[in-house]
Amino acid sequence: MLTVQSNVSLQSYNTFGIDVTAKYMVEATDESAIQTMLQLADLQALPKLILGGGSNMLFTQDFDGLVVKIGIKGIEILNETDDYVWLKVGAGEKWHDLVLHCVAKNYAGLENLSLIPGTVGAAPIQNIGAYGVELKESFVELEAINLSTGEKKVFSKTDCRFGYRDSVFKHEAKGQYVISSVTFLLHKKPNYKVEYGDIQKTLEATGIKELSIKAVSDAVIKIRSSKLPDPAEIGNAGSFFKNPEITQNLFDKLKINYPEIPGYPAQKGFVKVPAAWLIEQCGWKGKRLGNIGVHAKQALVLVNYGNGRGIEIRQLAEKIIESVLEKFGVRLSPEVNFV
Ligand code: FAD
Ligand code: EPU
Repeated sequence: MLTVQSNVSLQSYNTFGIDVTAKYMVEATDESAIQTMLQLADLQALPKLILGGGSNMLFTQDFDGLVVKIGIKGIEILNETDDYVWLKVGAGEKWHDLVLHCVAKNYAGLENLSLIPGTVGAAPIQNIGAYGVELKESFVELEAINLSTGEKKVFSKTDCRFGYRDSVFKHEAKGQYVISSVTFLLHKKPNYKVEYGDIQKTLEATGIKELSIKAVSDAVIKIRSSKLPDPAEIGNAGSFFKNPEITQNLFDKLKINYPEIPGYPAQKGFVKVPAAWLIEQCGWKGKRLGNIGVHAKQALVLVNYGNGRGIEIRQLAEKIIESVLEKFGVRLSPEVNFV
């Protein structure tokens, strides 16, 4: 059964809480709903927007087409050995629910990615990452349905061309597929990654003597909760920009005037600089412009205090890009998807 709703407010469907209207919306709870949608001439002709949890979206205007909300559920064991387990997961499962499922079953690999909002199907789009781990490390393959032909295609890890907050779904394949499931390879014998950021410190502070998948997940949840605003309280989409990778040459030059500039290893000849630092140096941290602003605890997070419009947030983002470019000669690229 496919129920088409008309003139739907998307306010509760995006974590920025932006109030725009979709002309039509359907929820697809299985693959056959997507096939039905593609076979109905009226729906086939409409521009489509695939929506997961709306946690990486900025709506700047009403959507004059069909929003397809992905609700395909299910976590299935495909294979299992003494060391590994292969899980096939429906695209509409909540990402953090999958992480909690793995923690409860003692499957390792996703614990550093705890508490990232959104759905499993959206996770490969930008190869989600946090605390030294990226999705691609546990990724095996995904199934996707071509929105023009209805054909199903399996994308291997190579096909996905994962990069930092990047994949083929942000380039050639953009807007062309609905991801219906993702298969992961998880470890029964954990290989903990606790070197990144404050994980080790947080584990020590909580008196953890022996590492476990749950202890790492709990530590990540604790750190994230202290740094990032909860979208249920203040509208946001996490990091608004990507951390830029600049040439070693430019980094060395900037270091002369800004000896304290932080930099992390990146591809050969490049240094990754925290965008939050660049933005903070330009004086934006904690700035409020009416209903919107830059978060007081994390300069990389733009926020909607309520009733903010997407266009205002886009304008703020443009001003931030301009001032960082002027001061440091570095152009920030947005991480969020504009609609
Ligand atoms: P949506 O916002 O609904 O969609 C994002 C994009 O994916 C859109 O282009 C959409 O069309 C497309 N899409 C969604 N589902 C599908 C599908 N099934 N098939 C095809 N296309 C699809 N990200 C990180 O990487 N690391 C973090 O640490 C992190 N922290 C965050 C913290 C907060 C507080 C917030 C609000 C966001 C954070 N994010 C982070 C960003 C966000 O959670 C991720 O990008 C997440 O994967 C988005 O999932 P979603 O289901 O909400 O996607
Ligand atoms: N910093 C500042 N000012 C601030 C905040 C941070 O100068 O207001 C500097 C500090 O030097 C700090 C550094 O930036 O050490 C890094 O900050 P943080 O550890 O908070 O991480 P981030 O680079 O801002 C990235 C990801 C997050 C991810 C965390 C943890 C990107 C764009 N963002 O943030 O992902 O959760 O690391 O791994 O890569 C997201 O993508 O939405 C997201 C939240």
